[in-house]
This record gives sequence, C-alpha cells and structure tokens, in this order.
Amino acid sequence: MTQPWEIETFLEIRNNQLHVDGVSAIDLVNDHATPLFIFSEKRIRHNITRLKRAADVIDCPLKVCYAAKAMSTMGILRAVKEAGCDIEVNSGGELWKALKAGFAGEQIIFNGTSKEIWELEAAISANIYAIQVDSPLELALIDETAQRLNKKIRVSLRLVPEIESATHHGLQTALLTSKFGMMPDEALECFRQYKDSQNLDLAGIHLHIGSQNPSSAGYSEAFEILFLNLHKIYAETGIKLSHINLGGGFPINYIAGDESAETFSEERKEMFSADFDPADAIENAWRTVKRAAENSNALHLLDDLELLLEPGRSIIADAGVLLTSVRNIKLRPVQTSAASDQRSIDHWLLTDAGFNLTLSMVTYQWYYHLISAARAGDEHRFPYKLAGPLCDGGDVYFDIEGAGRLPDHRPLPENVQVGEVLAMLNCGAYTMSQASQYNGRFLPAIVLIDYDGKPKLIRKCDTFEDLVANDL
Ligand SMILES: Cc1ncc(COP(=O)(O)O)c(C=O)c1O
Repeated sequence: MTQPWEIETFLEIRNNQLHVDGVSAIDLVNDHATPLFIFSEKRIRHNITRLKRAADVIDCPLKVCYAAKAMSTMGILRAVKEAGCDIEVNSGGELWKALKAGFAGEQIIFNGTSKEIWELEAAISANIYAIQVDSPLELALIDETAQRLNKKIRVSLRLVPEIESATHHGLQTALLTSKFGMMPDEALECFRQYKDSQNLDLAGIHLHIGSQNPSSAGYSEAFEILFLNLHKIYAETGIKLSHINLGGGFPINYIAGDESAETFSEERKEMFSADFDPADAIENAWRTVKRAAENSNALHLLDDLELLLEPGRSIIADAGVLLTSVRNIKLRPVQTSAASDQRSIDHWLLTDAGFNLTLSMVTYQWYYHLISAARAGDEHRFPYKLAGPLCDGGDVYFDIEGAGRLPDHRPLPENVQVGEVLAMLNCGAYTMSQASQYNGRFLPAIVLIDYDGKPKLIRKCDTFEDLVANDL
C-alpha cells in the first residue's frame, strides 16, 4: 500500500486509481457520471459486526438499531437489514421506509421531538419495539392513541442527563440547553402517573450523548446516570425496567492518514480523529454500572435487562465515498503579505458537489479527506482552493472564517485539469440523507458495491422532471 489512508481490500490504489472493494472509481464514473456516491456493503457489515462485538463484553442481550437518519436510501436500509441489524427511525417517513425495506416491527425503535398523531398511530399499528418518548405531553398522546387503537405499546423515556461531549455544538444532544428529552424528575413523575396504564408498557429509559463523541468515557457516565435513574424509578414506583438505551454517537476517524489535517487545532483534531472501539466503551460502561449496582445492592435490576444502541455514523460514514469532477479552474491573485504587498496565485478548482450533498463547511465546519480518484497514488502536495458549484460564498472546502477551523488549501496532485475526478472519503453519513436540490441540482446516483463485489445502482440520478415532481 502506498498511501496511509488505504484499507486493504476496501479502499485501495490500483493502476494509480482509487478502487472501492476492488472496483475502479473511474470506471463507475464512466458508467454513471458525477457527482456519484459509492457505498460498500462489505464495509457496512464490517462496521455492524464491530459494534455487535459489544455483546461479548456485557452480561445482557444487546440490540443494535441503525440510526436511519444517517443514510436511508432503500438499498442501504436493505444492506443494513441483511447484515442482521435492527433500526432506529426518526419520523413516520423513516418508519415507512424501514417497513418497506423489510424490517419487522420488533426491529424498530422510534425517536423524535415532535411526533404527530399519524406517526404514533403508524408506530403503534406496526407493533414496533418501542417509542422513545420525548416529553410528558407526548407520553399522554401515546397513551391516548394506543387506547383508541386498542393496543399496548412499549415506551422508553428519553432523559436529558446534562452530559457534555466535546463534539460540534450542533451535535450535542444531552444538555439542558439542547431540545431533546425530559428531565429525570419529569420522567419519574411519568412512571408514577402511567404505572397502571393498560396501553403503555413502561419499559425503558434512553439517552443519546451526541454524535462523533471524541471520548469513550461519556458512555460510562451516561450508563451510570441511566442506572441511577432506573434504580430510583424502581425504588419509588416498583417498576423494573427491561431495557436501557445508550443512543449512538460512536465516532469515526475522518482524518486517518490525512496529512493536511495536521494543521488542525488540538480540539478539532481530537474530534475528527476520534477512534475508540465501541465494544471497549461499552465494556467499561458495563463495569461501571455493575459496580454501582453492587454498591447499592441492586444487582437484580440488571437481571433480564436488554441494552440498546442506536449508532448511525459508525455504521455508514466510512462505507461511503463521494466522487466529484472538477468543472472549472481559476487562477486568482492573493495578497500574501499586507506589509510587502506581495502577491501570489491561488489555484481554484470548482467541482460539481457542494453542500447540497455534504455537511456544510459553514454551518458545521465539517471536513472530508480529499484525494484525486484518478491519480490516487501521486503525491498530493499542491495547494488548491476547492469549492462546490452552488451560488453561495460558503460553498467551499477551506477556511473562510479566518478561525483556522478548516485548512486554507486542499492538497492534490499538481496540474489538476477540468474533468479530473476527485474523491471525498468517509462521506456516507448525514450527506445523502440531508442532500437537497438547491440551485436546481439533481440528487445524484448511488452505487452500492454488494457483498460479492458487484456494483449495483441503488439510486438513479434525478431527472429534470424530479426537480418539479411535486410542483403544481
Ligand atoms: C437520538 C439519536 N440516536 C442516534 C443518533 C445517531 O448518532 P450517530 O450517527 O452519531 O451514531 C442520533 C444522531 O445524532 C440521535 O439523535
């Protein structure tokens, strides 16, 4: 292997071109044009297997539910299901897609802060595994709805435990200042109030620390908080919970083998390079909780408990690559030193993929490792200003804030020409699932390299008609 980002049999350089699972990225572009997403089914399975190893280090059953919000194209949902994973959905739309992809009700959990009655009806009617409840008001609605449908539904109450994670502020979800969940005291009151409900099975409590969490310690802290709450609920209401849901948030290393990230601040580097094994985090968390249970003579509360996880990013992010072509090139003078009024030249590359397809460089200051797919083995040292196609000054892949959160330039081989295909790595999560047709741009095709190494088109590129499909 010639480049530090290569991963044997998955991401490799052959004939100087990027290959995914042995398939040439350039061949796929010749067949499908750019922008183009490529996903690897093998990598998805590998990631799910890695997460499921957590089952070997705890003394209770584990249920891993893929967070569909990270990427929910049908072909991906089917691949996740084939890999033996359950699913977490965040809306009636995702629930519908999960059922259509073949997930059974028992495999589905349903999150969300603003669920509508029709969504609750759909979830209850599908006999899903559990609805994660975001407020006391929502619990009342679920009770009423289940009663009307003459059904009983399992619920899990989402707590806001005041755990801070050193991740991006938009990805923090466990603080009082965030919009999610209910305070532990409110939850306790709900358990008291609905203890005898004929329509609710008050089964669990839930939290989600945040996404791309740099430290595994948060999982021990979170699990201990959940256990203390579980104990209190038992002590004060007699309800013995049957599951605990620790959420998702396991990170992936966005800058593995990426020299240009060496200029990042320590804090940014810590977040983008976070790379702990989920099983290690869960093993430590389980040990912490067991100790807490022993100390409070409450080990019996761990009997028959099930642990739920709902990871998205750690399943799909590094399984996806976005291919984009250079469509325009500009040379622009730049003032390198105000004092000397010296000018040099910036080489600008304008591509066909912007924040319509990736996390925005402005709102999220997100970063993706960039390489030339066509010349993957060449030295990547020439500095370019890289930007997308959108009519928005923030549609760039470098720092425009002067805050040093992104690099000033993106290194690629020298002499990039119009038509050269570039690849953004680790692009699978929160990209296509948040993509838009902004500026009348087509949502792109997606190819999944299946488990046998065969490329399968799982989404065709939009057509003109798709741009106006619902306009009247
Ligand atoms: C409640 C909940 N569960 C799971 C996830 C998935 O997180 P991640 O993709 O970081 O694993 C999220 C996303 O932030 C979430 O809000």
